[in-house]
Amino acid sequence: MAVARKRLDISEVAASATMDPGAAVEAGAAVAAGAARELEAVATGVATPAGSRTAQAPATASTDKVKPCGVGVAPLHPLTVAVTGSAGFIGSHVVDRLLALGHRVCGVDNLSYGLRENFEHHLGHPGFSFHKVDVRDLAGLAEATDDCDAFIHLAAFKIPRYGNALATLQVNHAGAAHVLELARRGCRKVVLASTSDVYGMSAALPFDEEGNLVLGPSTVKRWSYAVSKLFDEHLGLAYAEEYGLPVVALRFFGTYGPRHHLSWWGGPQSVFFSCCLEGKPIPIHGDGLQTRSFTFIDDLVEGIVVALLRDEADGRVLNLGSQEEVAILELARQVHHACGNEGEPRLEFVPYSSFTGQRYDDVRRRVPDCTLAAQLLGWQVRVRLAEGLALTAPWHRLSLTRRPERMREEPAALEATR
Ligand SMILES: NC(=O)c1ccc[n+]([C@@H]2O[C@H](COP(=O)([O-])OP(=O)(O)OC[C@H]3O[C@@H](n4cnc5c(N)ncnc54)[C@H](O)[C@@H]3O)[C@@H](O)[C@H]2O)c1
Repeated sequence: MAVARKRLDISEVAASATMDPGAAVEAGAAVAAGAARELEAVATGVATPAGSRTAQAPATASTDKVKPCGVGVAPLHPLTVAVTGSAGFIGSHVVDRLLALGHRVCGVDNLSYGLRENFEHHLGHPGFSFHKVDVRDLAGLAEATDDCDAFIHLAAFKIPRYGNALATLQVNHAGAAHVLELARRGCRKVVLASTSDVYGMSAALPFDEEGNLVLGPSTVKRWSYAVSKLFDEHLGLAYAEEYGLPVVALRFFGTYGPRHHLSWWGGPQSVFFSCCLEGKPIPIHGDGLQTRSFTFIDDLVEGIVVALLRDEADGRVLNLGSQEEVAILELARQVHHACGNEGEPRLEFVPYSSFTGQRYDDVRRRVPDCTLAAQLLGWQVRVRLAEGLALTAPWHRLSLTRRPERMREEPAALEATR
């Protein structure tokens, strides 16, 4: 079936944007150190002029290590990109990166979990607009994104540890359905955020995109997240097949860095940082021998942006994650050391039943195979865990006293305030 109208061809933009890697390093600069500086500037009242952070961000220790995979600066045809979930952790970094590359951004977020602090340094930037819109509101989303050439769809609810299975299913289903439908009407590229959680309890390690997915029963509500994201992947691929829409679904593996939610919503590394810096024991769910791979935010953002600007992965599902498999106990040790502590951390083992009150299927091992992302997009992780944690620690230190209290609240408490 023919698409309604033809927009700017994004692969042309990508071709014109592939240039001096040194310049790209500078443009993509300072995610970790920059966010910490930003937080400090806000806290100390030293205002950052609108738009200046992206233009002036100096190269940092972070960016010296993070080499981009072919996306340069100053595109001949800047895109206007709708980023849903733009006030959240990953979304706000994607916004920073796109603006730094010279594109325009239309940020969409209902501020349910995201924060104004995550994007207010761009308010006044001529290339940035923010729209407080719920992605479940099709008309509102259509109005906000009418001028956009492409979508990066990140707005979502994550694993419902403390409730929210209904919200997870509704937001994640409706959000993707609305984005895809609006994209179809304008023939606009879509990058969909999916998750490693779709692999469930698969034992076929490392997880590759063609592998089988092994989810638990519907009575265990944590699987509602994986199911909702799997639905989004299928929907995206169906739109690609039916309408020729350029869609790529990216399975992110646990990502960390500055601006992460400080509760379990942000993942174990966030909670571990807070505990280490406050001198509290680190809570370990289960025996701590379960493994994960943790991806530094700079690396993930690079993968999202390159997947947007290049067309080699269109119509595909791709893993984006670190292949450094780490046990949760080892993560606790590394966070402890990143906070400047010596010796072994104090640990508190917490049985799953005590925080869910119900059955909770934890995933025993999780590590991606990222061969496809390397082959199609030239993408690979650059930052090792110890290095990324060291880059993240200063932000957590500042966050302890200067971050809004609601960033520490668990999702169930947040839900009640909505
Ligand atoms: N952080 C990770 O490690 C990770 C891992 C796998 C997948 N993902 C996926 O990446 C995406 C971004 O995750 P994140 O870690 O930045 O989460 P986040 O909670 O920090 O950001 C999500 C943003 O979406 C917004 N949002 C939620 N519901 C909305 C709605 N109905 N309408 C508009 N905005 C809404 C929130 O306010 C928040 O700002 C999500 O799709 C998530 O499923 C993240």
